[in-house]
Amino acid sequence: MDIDFDVKHGLEGVAVAISSISYIDGEKGKLVYRGFEIEDLVENSHFEETAYLIWFSSLPNENEIDFITSMLAKKRTLPKKIIEMMKSFPKNAHPMGVLRSVVSLLGMYSKKDSSTLENAINLTAKIPTIIAYWYRIKNNLPLIPPKESLKHSENFLYMMFGEIPKHSDLFDKALILHLEQGMNASTFASTVTASTLSDIYSIITTAIGTLKGPLHGGANEKVLNMFKEIKSVENVEPYIYTLISNKEKIMGFGHRIYKTYDPRAKILKHWIKDLFLKDNVEYFEIALKVEEIVIKEFKEKKIFPNVDFYSGILYNYFNIPSEFFTTIFAMARIVGWTAHAMEYRKNNRIFRPRSIYNGPKGLKYKEVKGVE
Ligand code: SDX
Repeated sequence: MDIDFDVKHGLEGVAVAISSISYIDGEKGKLVYRGFEIEDLVENSHFEETAYLIWFSSLPNENEIDFITSMLAKKRTLPKKIIEMMKSFPKNAHPMGVLRSVVSLLGMYSKKDSSTLENAINLTAKIPTIIAYWYRIKNNLPLIPPKESLKHSENFLYMMFGEIPKHSDLFDKALILHLEQGMNASTFASTVTASTLSDIYSIITTAIGTLKGPLHGGANEKVLNMFKEIKSVENVEPYIYTLISNKEKIMGFGHRIYKTYDPRAKILKHWIKDLFLKDNVEYFEIALKVEEIVIKEFKEKKIFPNVDFYSGILYNYFNIPSEFFTTIFAMARIVGWTAHAMEYRKNNRIFRPRSIYNGPKGLKYKEVKGVE
């Protein structure tokens, strides 16, 4: 007898775990990490300290911050064999495809008995190196090895460009904004992998593959490409109204939970506005015009800018190419992914939902094939 199930499309409104890592108030546009509002953390903290908070559920003391900072700094280098393999990759490979593949390769070189936390720190330390090395290899530039003396965020920019740009503190804060967001698609997918007790490299390969999609982390790259296509503020209206009349999704807008302005987008916009007043920040005026139209046209559906709408303008300001934007998202969200994997496993149960069958029944092979 068929059990009566109702399908929750896209799992809307379905809770799959109890978690103390983050809280989202979608109506008020609030994001809280382990009890701290995101505005408080970006104002006062930095990447290493907030990563510790997400992993260990409390802010670190001096010794603990030294521990996490030195652990992350010491584990930045990649095995030589992997660097050689990266040099053989096709130069037009997408950075998210390279990241997904190299994380899988790292799994072949990892110590089998290391704990999930050790692997989480190891991957958090190495992902920036993978991204920066791919940028250098793809552009036929010499590799710039990591510097242990630099902070996590500064070291990434140094490995990319050989120097630390002005306002690099904003890049560090942007990573804090992307650390964690509850059961988003890539965190959910990787928690499913974690629930089978698979290894951390498989868990994170799942996450990276899921984040790559344009409806999720891949949107930030699409947003900047949209700005490049629009070219000038004068072109915004015809461009956006064409998308609207074609019923196309406008990248960087909408959210399953936030039914008001995404607090992260609000913070990024504020920083970019300050920067814009001081320095030439490309595309900001175009973004403001796009936002004005979309918010007006989609008021009933409560569609507002999400984190991906403004993040690319900041990354572009740091000369990071748009095809690398989603890898920046991944280099932060590795902390949330690994925190959820460790938390879920404390009360693990394998994910195994149902599907409702609507296909044929009672078919007979010989009758269908018309044979005796
Ligand atoms: C991230 O979950 C997270 O927290 C994700 C994230 C994180 O930190 O992990 O916040 C990061 O992924 C942000 C989202 C980045 N993606 C985009 O910017 C792509 C564009 N956005 C949409 O595809 C969409 O808004 C989603 C994917 C973000 C949310 O999808 P939902 O909740 O399934 O919403 P939906 O597609 O069911 O839309 C509801 C209605 C529809 O209209 P109707 O069919 O009811 O008439 O709103 C419309 C949609 O057409 N709509 C949009 C729109 N987003 C929703 N219309 C135009 N442009 C959009 N961007």
